[in-house]
Order: sequence, then structure tokens, then C-alpha cells
Amino acid sequence: MEVIREYSQSAVKSLLCGCRIGSRVCFYETTDSTNEQAKLEAQNGGVHGTLVVADRQTAGRGRRGRSWESPANGNIYFSLVLRPELAADKAHMLTLVMANSVARAIRRVTGVDCRIKWPNDIVADGRKVCGILTEMNFESDGSYCVIVGVGINVGLQEFPAELLDKAASLQEFGGVFISRAQLLAEVIKDFSEDYDVFMTKESLKGLLDSYQQLLINKDVPVRVLDPKGEYEGIARGITETGELLVETDAGVEQVYAGEVSVRGICGYV
Ligand code: BTN
Repeated sequence: MEVIREYSQSAVKSLLCGCRIGSRVCFYETTDSTNEQAKLEAQNGGVHGTLVVADRQTAGRGRRGRSWESPANGNIYFSLVLRPELAADKAHMLTLVMANSVARAIRRVTGVDCRIKWPNDIVADGRKVCGILTEMNFESDGSYCVIVGVGINVGLQEFPAELLDKAASLQEFGGVFISRAQLLAEVIKDFSEDYDVFMTKESLKGLLDSYQQLLINKDVPVRVLDPKGEYEGIARGITETGELLVETDAGVEQVYAGEVSVRGICGYV
């Protein structure tokens, strides 16, 4: 009789049975970065929905060239290979789609009151529990694929000193033991649903209500860290293409993610 370990290729596969996203699962005990492995999978013809998971990453990457703490035995690190039939300039919205799916799944599976910090951090009690890194890979025939990488801090973790007041693990919030395989499968199932809704309109239109209900910086004062000049305003939600609407004395600004980040007036959120 085969014994299925709690967090393994077989465990994840059996929970995802029938789901197009995750129809192929590559599971590593240790790898450099699941985004890197997903990119290799894509280069070797990996199908839409290929899921690359690792228990530990030795070179986990965050946004803006940062690293992502990726110890073994407690957290979720995964990347999806997506081949959307979509103009490449719309693909950045997939990051917000994933943020919506991760937040929904975490709330349902763990009961933790997490929210989205625009555009794609998931926070609980003012600290980050999940980050998403989306990368595009252009192929020689002009087609492209999207790699969406997600790191969720699940198990109790000792964060480096500089992250202590900024990062948290879901298990810190008490409650029952969180099964990584189950949470991962629920994230993928929610993403499958959200992806279909997104693709029918090629915009966030069908997900706006859900995203905005989960958005922590809605109707709150924010500071926009624009390299061209910082300013403050009240965040009013997002557009159908994912820009943050910020009301200022001069009118409503549409803030594009990318080089710009947004902070609360008194801190990260
Ligand atoms: C961020 O800076 O907020 C994004 C963090 C993304 C981390 C995940 S972990 C799985 C995947 N592989 C990586 O190397 N990075 C992403």
C-alpha cells in the first residue's frame, strides 16, 4: 500500500484531480526557485496550468530583486505556467487575479482574516503572509507565457530581524493545524474559477466586487511612493484593469503598479 505523505506530489495531485490548472504537478523537496523551474518547464513545452511546487527554495525570489525566505517544512512555494490567449499588455492583471484567489482560499480554509494590500500582497494583522511574483517569458515564435509564483507563510517561522514587524505566518493566528496540501489545492481551485471569469472579459470586471471587498486599502488614506514625486490621498478601489484609484485634492489619480508602491500613512498597510 502506498503511503501518501501530507505534503508531496501524490497528496497535491489527488486533491487537484479534475482541475485543468494543476493537471500536471512537479514537486521538489528542494529547488532554487519554483519560478525558475516553471520557466524551464515552459521552455520545454510545459502545458498551460503546469504547477511547480517546492518544500524549500534555496534562491527564492521576491519582487524588485529582493529574496524570499524559503525554509523547509512549513510554507507554500509554488509557480504556475500559464499560456493565456491574451494580449501581452493585459497579462499583468493575472497577479491581481491570483491575489483574489489566495485571499479567498486562506480565509475559507484557515479562518484567518487576511486582506489584499494593492496590488498583490496578502496581509493579516498588518503583516504580510503572502507575496506574488509574476514574470513573463517571451518565446522565439513571438508567443509568451506567464509564470505566477506564490509564497505563503504558513508554519511558524523565525523571520530575519528586518522582517519581524512586516511578515507573519498563518499558523501564528491560532486555530487548527493548516494542511499545506489542502490550502494549496484550494488556492489552485479558486484561481481556476477566477481565471475563467477573468478570461471571459479579459479584464477584472467580473472579480471587482470580490477584490474590493478584500482590499485593505479601500477608503483609507495612502501615500503613493511614485519615483516622480510622492503624494497622499484616499484610495477608492481599483479599475477594471487593476490600477488603484487615489483621490487627491487635484482629482482622482490612476496608480499603475510596477515602479510605484503604496503605503498606509502610518506604515506598511
Ligand atoms: C514578493 O516580493 O512579494 C513576491 C514573493 C514571491 C515568492 C514566491 S515563492 C514561489 C515563487 N518562487 C520564487 O522564487 N518566488 C515566488
